[in-house]
Order: sequence, then C-alpha cells, then structure tokens
Amino acid sequence: MNTDLSSSVPSQLETDCLVVVVLDRSEKDQSEKDKPSPSVESADAAVRESAKEVISSGEVTAKTFETTLLHRPAGLKAKRLLLIGGGKAKNFSAAELRQLAGAAVRTLKSKSVRSFAFALPENGVPANDAVRAIVEGAFVGNFDPGYYKSDRKDTDQKIDSVTIVVPGDPKSLESAMHAGRIVAESQNFARDLINEPSNRMTPTMMAERTQKMASEVGLKCEVHGADKIRQLKMGAFWGVAQGSDEPPALIVLRYEPHGAAKDVHLGLVGKGVTFDTGGISIKPADGMEKMKYDMAGAATMIGAMRAIALLKPKVKVTAIICATENMPSGKAQKPGDVQIAMSGKSIEIINTDAEGRLILADGLCYARQLGCTHLVDAATLTGAVVVALGYVNAGIFASDDNMFDRFANANQQAGEKMWRLPLDDEYKENIKSNIADIVNSGGRQGGAISAAMFLKEFAEDTPWIHLDIAGTAWMEDNKPWIAKGPSGIALRSLVEFVKGWSA
Ligand code: BES
Ligand code: MN
Ligand code: ZN
Repeated sequence: MNTDLSSSVPSQLETDCLVVVVLDRSEKDQSEKDKPSPSVESADAAVRESAKEVISSGEVTAKTFETTLLHRPAGLKAKRLLLIGGGKAKNFSAAELRQLAGAAVRTLKSKSVRSFAFALPENGVPANDAVRAIVEGAFVGNFDPGYYKSDRKDTDQKIDSVTIVVPGDPKSLESAMHAGRIVAESQNFARDLINEPSNRMTPTMMAERTQKMASEVGLKCEVHGADKIRQLKMGAFWGVAQGSDEPPALIVLRYEPHGAAKDVHLGLVGKGVTFDTGGISIKPADGMEKMKYDMAGAATMIGAMRAIALLKPKVKVTAIICATENMPSGKAQKPGDVQIAMSGKSIEIINTDAEGRLILADGLCYARQLGCTHLVDAATLTGAVVVALGYVNAGIFASDDNMFDRFANANQQAGEKMWRLPLDDEYKENIKSNIADIVNSGGRQGGAISAAMFLKEFAEDTPWIHLDIAGTAWMEDNKPWIAKGPSGIALRSLVEFVKGWSA
C-alpha cells in the first residue's frame, strides 16, 4: 500500500473517497442518554457544508465506527465522502484514530474502493502522532490473513493507496508517516508468520524466514540446533524439544548500532512453540488446531527486531527465540520427570502442557548470559490469562516498577490494551516442589501468575517484563479495524519501548 501526505484543501482534493471523522461534542456522559451532537472534524467549511444535510437528518450519531457514505458530495472534488464516527470528542485520542483508519480501510476495500484520502481531524491529537496512528491503523486494517483456498483472489480486496490530508507543511510529517509504515509492516510481517499452520511454520522454517528478513534489514542472525541447545545445557528447552521429530531452533538476532549507551542491552525473548499438542499431558482434540499460534510471542519479537533495524534507535537489542514443537512421542518427557535448566535450577515436570515456561526459562537465562541488562518476554503462555483478562487485555508482569513505567508509557503510545497483574512473593508457594527446586505447573488458581512466578526464577535480579498474550494474539472475530486471525499484539508497544532507550 502506498501512503503519501497532501496539504490540499480537503474539498479540492480529487480522490475516490474523502474520509472525515465525526465526533460527538455533546457535553454530558453517555450514561445520561443525552442527544448526540455530531461534529464533522474539518476546518474546511465546504466539507462541513456537504455533510450538513445527512447530519441534520439525525442519521449520523458519531458513534465509534459508524460509517456514512455519500456519493458525489456537493461542493467536493472527491467522488465519495465517508463520515466515520469516533465517539465522544473528549475521549478521542491517537488510539481511537488508529482504529478509525483501520475501519475506513476495511469499509472501503469491501466496497471495491482502491484509494482514498483521510483528512487529519483537527481535534488536539498532535499532527505527528495523528499521522503515525492513521498510517499504522490503515496497514493493520488492510491485512487479511492468507487462507489456503485455491479460488482466493489475493490482490482483489486491498487498498492500494492512502493520502493523508494535513494542514500546513507535509514535509515535517514525513518521518512520522515513514515510522508508522515501518512499524505496521513489521506487525503484518509477524501476523503472516503467526497465521501459518504448523506444517508450514516448523522451527526450521521460522529460522529460515527470520534469516531472510535479517539479511534484508541488516541484522545479525544466528540459528542453533539441538546440539548447541544441549551443549548450552538448556535442559528445560531440550525437555520440550526432545519429544518432537522436528528439530528445534534457537534463533539469536542482534542489533548493535553505533553510538548506543554502553550500559543498556535489551533482551527480547519469544516463545516459539510452532505447535502445542500438550505433549504427554495431551490437550483435548476440540480446538487443538488453534495451537499453531503458540509461536506468536516469537513472531512478535522477530517482527519487532525488523522494525528496530529499520528505525535505528541507538540502543543495543538482542532477540532470543526458542522454537520447538511440543509433541507426545516415545522420546517425549513425562509428568514426574526432572529437568535441569541452564541456570542449574531443577524443575519437576508436573504437566508437559506447561511447556512455554520451560523453553523461556532457558531463553531468559541465555539472554542474561549474553549480557542483557533488561529483559522482556512475550508468550502465549496460559489459558489462565484468558480467564483473567478475556480477549481484550494482554497480561503484563513486571519485576521492576521503573521498567514497568517505561513499558506502560510505550504501551499507551502504541494504543494496545494491556493490564498489569501481580507477582507477590506469596505466589511462590504455587510452584514449590517436593523433589526439585520448582514445579512447572502450579495448579488452577492464579495460573497466569504461577507461570510468571516460574519465569521470574530465571530472570533472577535482571529487571524483567513478561507479556502473556494467549488471549490477545488471535482475534476470535472480525472487528471493524482488524481481521479475524493473528493480531500482532505487543509489537508496537515493544518497538516504542525500545525507542525509549535510544541514547
Ligand atoms: N499454549 C498454551 C496456552 C494457551 C492457551 C495459548 C490458550 C493460547 C490459548 C500453554 O502452553 C498451555 O498449555 N498452558 C497450560 C498450562 C497449564 C498446564 C499449567 C494452560 O494454560 O492450560
Ligand atoms: Mn501447552
Ligand atoms: Zn503452549
């Protein structure tokens, strides 16, 4: 998709469709059931005039994602005018704008429109943030996961070009547009990886896709196999990998820019379980096909590294991807087995389906060995986080409040929904073992927290954040701004977080 900026007066712009945001400027709260007061967010009187009739008809309420399409709008050079509702003006921010841009793309592409212009609403969102949000939202909305249908016409339903209509000089906004593009294309890159079924995204294939991307953007990439995993004494990672005929991969991506601070080295660790059967503690057949997305954390980190390589923040970043299948077999680990992790800690395997924390334990330990000073992991780790937060918020766990504040800030900028969950020492009880240092499964109560407490044992005293994206990495339904399927959640927050450390 092509993106550009124009400082044309919106009414004078020739386009297949001009998209304008409508906000509800009524003062009272929604709960008080006041009448909406829809306002067309454009400084161009001709645009407001052309929408006047449909607005006064009462048809437009400015409700979020409400769309009203006018053909041949009077007084405009555009062929169509799309009014898109953005909800209450007082609640409107870049996050809402990002979703509106996605919704505009998805509405118009379904109507076979190929290009449109989005008028920047003049409502207080700084122009830089607004441009970035519109570009990101548009790319995210334009992505539809590939299906293996032989009659699929892939290029049919896509927007080819978006013009953002800005007041004043577009030059100063070009870098915002460029940055938005990099981040959103990286998010879609991750979504492509996540979407692949496990026979088309084995650990080896994930490593190949990563190497190809790395050589395109200038990242160093190393791929290690089973021998190296055993040689590094990654007993927890190997405990999972040993059950599969498909070889595991330990992928290391390095970004080492000139002029980076000497004392900061960020480590991004991703769970790359390309298929999770549960192992010997096998999962029920119902819904098991979804466990192809158990590598979403890995894909997110790989995609984030792509964006980082292109945006070039001045901070050293290393990504560690632990990729394996979790299979039952004659070689598979069994409940009751004890594995010795790379750090030396012994782990009693209670449930072989709690495999994500095992591979991440060694991934986190390895990141520390490589000198990482701050760690973030992302993983589709627990069904329990879905029970706690549903499909709306990802779970954030943080061992360090400073690091959490930085991440929360980035998360806010990125417009992704996440919620912090606790890591009190009392929860350590959940992972006590009778025969080893810890167990890998802490039972049903507070399951997402037990998993995080387990990981904390391996992050040790290095400031660390854990993102449990089990409920948010896969959209269960189509939304106005995003297709059903892989979401690419956490990538934008991670990239923003990394940028925040730039020297
Ligand atoms: N990959 C799953 C978690 C998951 C659940 C991801 C739903 C996406 C959607 C993970 O490996 C798992 O199986 N966790 C178990 C842990 C339990 C055995 C302690 C779970 O959550 O049931
Ligand atoms: Mn599992
Ligand atoms: Zn899993």
